[in-house]
Amino acid sequence: MTPTRAEPLRIGVLASGRGSNLQAIVDAIEGGRLDCRLAVVVSDRADCQALDRARKHGVEAVFVDPKGYADRETFDRAVLAVLAEHRVELVCLAGYMRIVTPIFVRALSGRIMNIHPGLLPAFPGLHAQRQALEHGVKVSGATVHFVDEGVDTGPIICQAAVPVREDDTEETLAARILEQEHQLYPRAIRLFAEGRLSIVGRRVLVRADA
Ligand code: GAR
Repeated sequence: MTPTRAEPLRIGVLASGRGSNLQAIVDAIEGGRLDCRLAVVVSDRADCQALDRARKHGVEAVFVDPKGYADRETFDRAVLAVLAEHRVELVCLAGYMRIVTPIFVRALSGRIMNIHPGLLPAFPGLHAQRQALEHGVKVSGATVHFVDEGVDTGPIICQAAVPVREDDTEETLAARILEQEHQLYPRAIRLFAEGRLSIVGRRVLVRADA
């Protein structure tokens, strides 16, 4: 049986933009489908929609200004301090457009997830949907993975496939992938919160529900 936690898992979301994945996580929590506490949302952009969404739902929203730090490492230390202050146990990157430094990854090893709009290991990095169209693949999708020191290279937790249509543009494909992302991310977080994930080498093993 999956052991039950005394307190809901405390998660922190890092986002830089629109925040629709953040919204999907908030909706899953508020809808009782995800037993977690969203402790804080952190952004590297002052005016991003993700921070507005957090505030609207009474979630602490913190802007950490990259201009205030000499380099990426000191910036990441500042973000780590915010996460520690809010006693975050799992960090979810959701449209966070920065590459985290090894300092960040090592501090939270096995406790950082990212969502990517493609079927990794194909098309990592920016503009995954455009890369998929340009390559001519027939199936793309979304991936949630643990974050390691590479770019989109960490162990894969779950994936959803999305067929590519002949008349797809980057926008239409991105929109259909996004629908899947909104299902996938809360599901991955729930598996983590229920203690059902273990990382074995490159593989993430998912223990069956009790
Ligand atoms: C999502 O499609 C996410 O997968 C992607 O950015 C979008 C953010 O949307 N992330 C990356 O490309 C990371 N390399 P959102 O702000 O509405 O959640």
